[in-house]
Amino acid sequence: MYPLRRNRRLRTSEAIRGLVRETIITPNDFLVPLFVVEGKGVKAEIASMPSYFRYSLDLLEQEVKELWNLGLKSVLLFVKVPDNLKDNQGKEALNPDGLMQRAIKTVKNVCPEMLVMTDVALDPYSVYGHDGIIENGVIVNDITIDFLAEMSVSHAQAGANFVAPSDMMDGRILSIREALEDEGFTDTGIMSYSAKYASAFYGPFRDALDSAPVDMVNIPKDKKTYQMDPSNRFEAIRETEMDIDEGADIVMVKPGLCYLDIVREIKNEVDVPVAVYQVSGEYAMLKAAAEKGWLDHDAVMMEQVTAIKRAGADIIASYFAKDIVKLIS
Ligand code: PBG
Repeated sequence: MYPLRRNRRLRTSEAIRGLVRETIITPNDFLVPLFVVEGKGVKAEIASMPSYFRYSLDLLEQEVKELWNLGLKSVLLFVKVPDNLKDNQGKEALNPDGLMQRAIKTVKNVCPEMLVMTDVALDPYSVYGHDGIIENGVIVNDITIDFLAEMSVSHAQAGANFVAPSDMMDGRILSIREALEDEGFTDTGIMSYSAKYASAFYGPFRDALDSAPVDMVNIPKDKKTYQMDPSNRFEAIRETEMDIDEGADIVMVKPGLCYLDIVREIKNEVDVPVAVYQVSGEYAMLKAAAEKGWLDHDAVMMEQVTAIKRAGADIIASYFAKDIVKLIS
């Protein structure tokens, strides 16, 4: 009670604030998303994600070395698939010499200790830009999860340490776990996008991979029949608990900032590590405001990731990872 207690005493200098600080950001917090394209010498800036690039495999090597030297030891790979290789079944995703499989090997080659996680979903391979196989205008769950299991095995064969299914089909974690076990990949982990919302914040990412749902008759215009309704909270817990029962090693909430209530709730509920994806739209918003001089880029960036960690994130997938690590080192 005042005046016996004066809370401002613990804020009087940077030294005391440092002593009592509860949430500290370190390079170990981050998972770095990387976009990979075909070609040579390509480092192409993504229009809606300033200072973020797609790399061809030769330039990916340098980027990976740089990340490692900064203390960033985990990457999450995404590929931009050429249009002529897209279909409804995602056949190209199983090509042992496909872009993802070569990207995994490239990273492992230049940096064997780097933890490689891969995106497992159909959308970059789908002519329709959907995360599942479509029949009669419907995204069919059970044939899709069989396919995702094959895709995961293919990534494991190429050397991935973790697969990260981002599709939100029912039962895919069990299907993937069983396939990995059957093929002897007992050490390959699964980071499940467990509570993934049907968010409008994914726009810039879909630009980066050219993977937005197409506008065609008889094809769903959005991902609301599989990604979660932003209005729902209990559903997030149900999804996450089911994924853990099915064999997920790490669970995820996505997007970040607008869903920190969900992050805390999940963190209190489960006993596996919780990842949070600070998504492309969150990155783009800050870049745009900073370009206009409306927000202090570095200060807001740090405040945002600190809030994500404080909410309960053990792992943060973030396009800011490199900027942050440079800033705090
Ligand atoms: C697709 C996928 C998406 C993201 C990661 N994996 C987009 C989507 O679901 O449409 C979004 C990431 C971001 O916005 O940064 N399976």
